[in-house]
Amino acid sequence: MDSTQVTWHAHAVVRPRGCVVWFTGLSGCGKSTVANLVDQKLHELGCGSFVLDGDNIRHGLNASPAMLAETFDDAFAQRFGLGFSALDRAENIRRIACVAELFCEAGVVALTAFVSPYREDREAARAAIERQGEEGDFIEVFVDTPLEICEQRDPKGLYKQARAGKLPGFTGIDAPYEAPASAEIHLAAGEKSPPALADEVIAYLRSQGKIR
Ligand code: ADX
Repeated sequence: MDSTQVTWHAHAVVRPRGCVVWFTGLSGCGKSTVANLVDQKLHELGCGSFVLDGDNIRHGLNASPAMLAETFDDAFAQRFGLGFSALDRAENIRRIACVAELFCEAGVVALTAFVSPYREDREAARAAIERQGEEGDFIEVFVDTPLEICEQRDPKGLYKQARAGKLPGFTGIDAPYEAPASAEIHLAAGEKSPPALADEVIAYLRSQGKIR
């Protein structure tokens, strides 16, 4: 069946919308740490939220071809598995934007933590969220930690591997990171502590009436 033969079913229950807080930045910049702290603070405030994290989602919904090959045949694994080419990252982000939109419709604050290095992919995610809701539903957070600091931290040892030529196409080393030009929130993440950064996000959400 062709997708033009699939019809949209309106939901019977109309819920207040959540929003999408889209953390972007280099590997090791602190996206997940800050997103999880914001999640914790929202939980304490009684506000429904959920973290969608690149490293976790790439174990399930957006698994690699090698992971899928453990269960499915090669053709399936190659077709649906995702790696880190520009095209695969675009599909990674497209799927996450769709999932985040579902959370948003369910009235939850979706906190997404993906490198999402390409401006075009982030703009497509923004458009997808705002198409279903309104302007302001997509809040881009640039976790701006200098490459030198991310590389120093290197929590998974990936920068070291990338520098040794063992991980081609690593963001910041031999694949680009296109910094947001006008993110709603710009976190000077190399200079402040994660709790202070999380407070900035909470303050922004409050100022926009997203939480009380
Ligand atoms: S994205 O670019 O498609 O948004 P995503 O956030 O899902 O990336 O995954 C990034 C994580 O995958 C990094 O934190 C790192 O642990 C791991 N990773 C493995 N290979 C790469 C690579 N080539 N570039 C960036 N991250 C990579």
